[in-house]
Amino acid sequence: MAVGVFDSGLGGLTVLAALERRLPEVEFVYYGDNAHAPYGVRDADDIFALTCAGVERLWQEGCDLVVLACNTASAAALRRMQETWLPADKRVLGVFVPLIEALTERQWGDSSPPREVALRHAALFATPATVSSRAFQRELAFRAIGVDVEAQPCAGLVDAIEQGDMILAEALVHSHVEALLRRMPHPEAAVLGCTHYPLMEAAFRAALGAGVAVYSQPDLVAESLADYLDRHPDMLGRGQRAFLTTGDPAGVSRKATQFMRRGIAFAAAE
Ligand code: DGL
Repeated sequence: MAVGVFDSGLGGLTVLAALERRLPEVEFVYYGDNAHAPYGVRDADDIFALTCAGVERLWQEGCDLVVLACNTASAAALRRMQETWLPADKRVLGVFVPLIEALTERQWGDSSPPREVALRHAALFATPATVSSRAFQRELAFRAIGVDVEAQPCAGLVDAIEQGDMILAEALVHSHVEALLRRMPHPEAAVLGCTHYPLMEAAFRAALGAGVAVYSQPDLVAESLADYLDRHPDMLGRGQRAFLTTGDPAGVSRKATQFMRRGIAFAAAE
């Protein structure tokens, strides 16, 4: 009974940890495309091709349902995958929709028309590819009216995190938050729209100050997947827990262990 978890690299491990806590009876197969990370500076065609290749690899592991634990892939590729590529017996879910449902105080999976919500000013921190896709604004507009979104492309941040350079990552968080606050001085909510950013959540909170509600994805995605699996128990595939990477398994395992503070052993995806 396995569900696939896809990310461009290590960031999706923050989502995986929440999935494992919330759904201990489910096995997860994690696929990190570390050889091609970061995705945030790639174009949409490239991200689509790489994401499809990773999802196909997870199908081979018996995962009929795959969570794209990567905002960049969810933003740049998911809609196209669902509309043009996905076979009828497979499902791919993204990480934007649960976040937006939480932000707009909706029940999971509520697809009723957009309505007025309490939120007026939202800050989005994400990769350059996610910001330029405008997928967040598009999905938000399906659900809420009158929310002003200011988006900050956080250039360099995923690279610094993947390289384990936390001093640089912290400095980048502060400068990106300052840049956003110059354009939107009083957001009520800030969205960490990249699965790497929960690793820097404390720095985002410190830079934003106490008055801003910070929305981080892992627990929201886990709650929404639990609800999805209640409604679609047939989507629990075959397969067994595994960690796959397109990068160097030894190096990726070392960094993953350092980030997550527990032993994680990756195998080569090929
Ligand atoms: N962690 C991913 C995301 O949520 C991708 C980061 C990247 O590869 O640039 O956007």
